[in-house]
Amino acid sequence: EKAGYEHFMMKEIHEQPKVVGDTINSVVKENFIDLTDIGLSEEDIKKISQMYIVACGSAYHVGIAAQYVIEDLAKIPVRVELGSEFRYRKPLLDKNGLVVVISQSGETADSLAALREAKEKGVRTLGIVNVVGSSIAREADSVFYTLAGPEIAVATTKAYSTQLVATYALAIQFAKVREEISEERYVELIREIKTLPEKIEKILKDKERIQWFASKQVNAHDVFFVGRGIDYAICMEGSLKMKEISYIHSEAYAAGELKHGTISLIEDDILVVGVLTQSELYEKTISNMLECKSRGAYLMGLTTFGRYDIEDTVDFTVYIPKTDPLFATSLAVIPLQLLGYYISVAKGLDVDKPRNLAKSVTVE
Ligand code: M6R
Repeated sequence: EKAGYEHFMMKEIHEQPKVVGDTINSVVKENFIDLTDIGLSEEDIKKISQMYIVACGSAYHVGIAAQYVIEDLAKIPVRVELGSEFRYRKPLLDKNGLVVVISQSGETADSLAALREAKEKGVRTLGIVNVVGSSIAREADSVFYTLAGPEIAVATTKAYSTQLVATYALAIQFAKVREEISEERYVELIREIKTLPEKIEKILKDKERIQWFASKQVNAHDVFFVGRGIDYAICMEGSLKMKEISYIHSEAYAAGELKHGTISLIEDDILVVGVLTQSELYEKTISNMLECKSRGAYLMGLTTFGRYDIEDTVDFTVYIPKTDPLFATSLAVIPLQLLGYYISVAKGLDVDKPRNLAKSVTVE
């Protein structure tokens, strides 16, 4: 069942090029995107005044990344909320708003409760769901099915990646329908989204380098992931993977926020992982990393091919292929999944079934 892999997680990591491609192809045609099967007409899309993305865990991290992409392309204000907070917050929802609930299982109690709350308030709902016929899929007004296939490992990888590309497809199409982007940009984005599977494949080919690095990190007890903008969203997911399967305390920090308190935790040999895929934020994040280095931190940098000057600053670098900066999450997350995985394996932990966790959280 593990198709020759030692763990489901590794098998699922390697399935990403295929399932990301399948999810893209379900809506992205030759040179246009078709959301009619999902149940979103052009009229519906034009009407949206505000989006609320509600989810838990990694799906929430997809929401944070999606917020940047949707606001940038479609110019629709997006608010992202944790399922467990949304439901008790008495949210004020605009009647022309769209509540998007992202969930692999479609059964997460807090996400389902948020969906019901939105429906009760008469606001339109869209589920981005992996499990066909699950509660969220059944109850949402429209459903965008991610085509990740069954995900067995508790730590999500392929479902996360398919959720991300689903949000890109929505963002691109919403932007087009609302006339926020030119025809040229539309075609360019479609062309670029289709290249993501082969770029993910390319990153996976280099996994031994991450394995080597991971073998040096088994004794780490605190790791900081830092980045700005979309890179901060990537950090959140990298940090969760580290905690969830490697049992190493880690935090994701917006790089500019470090100096507002957290930097006092940086001392000799603490690992700081900087994510730098957004060129206009590159210098800013580098300067935050230098602040950590001068306090003794060991630096890993994750950036795109071509940014070789990063080696002047960091101790270990991982490069990912170039893509549109809005899609960088899909590539940068892969080395971070591998890092969490290999540290967990090197520590002899139960990678697929980490302690205290269940695949789907059906209690509040
Ligand atoms: O099934 P869901 O997508 O609603 O699950 C949400 C979270 O429980 C889930 O993403 C969790 O954070 C993962 N185990 C993280 O790897």
